[in-house]
Formats: sequence, C-alpha cells, structure tokens
Amino acid sequence: MNDSNIVWHDHHVSKSERSEQKNQKACVLWFTGLSGSGKSTIANALESKLYEMGKHTYLLDGDNVRHGLNKDLGFSDQDRIENIRRIGEVSKLFVEAGLITVTAFISPFRSDRKIVRDLVESGEFIEVFIDTPLEICEQRDPKGLYQKARKGEIPTFTGISSPYEHPVSPDIHIQTAHHSVEESVSSIIEYLSQKGYLDASTH
Ligand code: ADX
Repeated sequence: MNDSNIVWHDHHVSKSERSEQKNQKACVLWFTGLSGSGKSTIANALESKLYEMGKHTYLLDGDNVRHGLNKDLGFSDQDRIENIRRIGEVSKLFVEAGLITVTAFISPFRSDRKIVRDLVESGEFIEVFIDTPLEICEQRDPKGLYQKARKGEIPTFTGISSPYEHPVSPDIHIQTAHHSVEESVSSIIEYLSQKGYLDASTH
C-alpha cells in the first residue's frame, strides 16, 4: 500500500498529560501463557483491584477480541502473528490514552511479544508470564478444548499441536500452581507500586 500521502498528526493533549490527569503512569501489562493458565481470571481480578484503587484501566481479552476486531483470524501461525500485531497496535493506542492496559492473549511466539515491546516506549511494556504447566491446564480444561484437541478435533492447539515459547526473562513471573489469584494480583500490584506506575508524581 502506498502511504506516502498519509501524514502523522501529533495530538495537542500529550500522553504524559493524559497519564498525569489519571494519577498514574500508562503501561501495558502483557499477560502470556497457555490456554487455561489463568490469564483472564488473574487479569480480571487485577483490573477490579486497580479500579477499586481509583486507577484507569482497560482489559483486552483474547476470546472477546476474537469476536470482533479479529473475528477474521484463526489459529494458524500467520493468523496468530496478525492477531498479536493488531492487539499490539490497539494496546499502544490505549497507552497513548493514559490507561493501564491489561492484555490476556496466549501470544505464543517470543518474536511477536518482542515486536509489541518495541512498539511502545521503554518501561511501558511489562511482560507477565502466567506460568501454569500444561498438565494442570489440561486438568482444568475450563472450556473442554484440550479434550477436543487430544481427540484431534482442534488443529494447531497451543501446547498440543502448536508451540508455546515461554518468556525467557519476564518482568513478572506468576506460578499459578503455587499461588492463589489474590496472591498473584498482590504481587502485580506490588510491582506496579514499586516501579511508580500507580503514582503520577514519580514520572
Ligand atoms: S493467540 O495464540 O492468537 O494469542 P488468543 O489468546 O487470541 O490466541 O486466543 C486463545 C483462545 O482461543 C484460547 O483460550 C481458546 O479458548 C481459544 N482457542 C480456539 N482454538 C484454539 C487453538 N487452536 N489454540 C489455542 N487456543 C484456541
């Protein structure tokens, strides 16, 4: 596509003004992990806690986004790459809006997560590894999808017939086999607080 006639417009209200107005530092908490690992559960609990604390957030969730923006995409490697590329761009816009953005997508490929990290400014991308062993995800099987995948009814299912590349050095590492949802949320809040994301004065 020839985009040489499209010119970028800077907004009059800046990202830092939007963040400061909300008394926070905008960022994206990028959850990654297997299906059934607990991404959506912990992300929702985290968002509720941040809301109670008066913070301004938005949660983008795999299953929901795939009903709308990304309903044209499936689960081939190529479609997953495009799924994450679009979510990355949307997350960047939410960060520009001054929001603490939480995303919950398997996002199985390291290279795609790195692309999103590089899309936003340094310190704005926080990788949260929701680390749950495949055996436990399979036991939980909240949507019955692992059972179907084992029977060969779902092709390219992550962890079974499609790869998951775990983060090498995540910013936050949550092991759900050893910690409750409440403990997981507390450790993320602790991280955000220590690094100054919950307070505009530390910019
Ligand atoms: S991603 O790999 O492209 O990041 P995404 O997080 O959007 O995946 O969607 C994953 C969700 O779609 C899973 O939690 C599951 O409910 C559903 N799903 C349907 N088919 C598959 C599949 N082949 N592999 C993984 N998840 C699938």
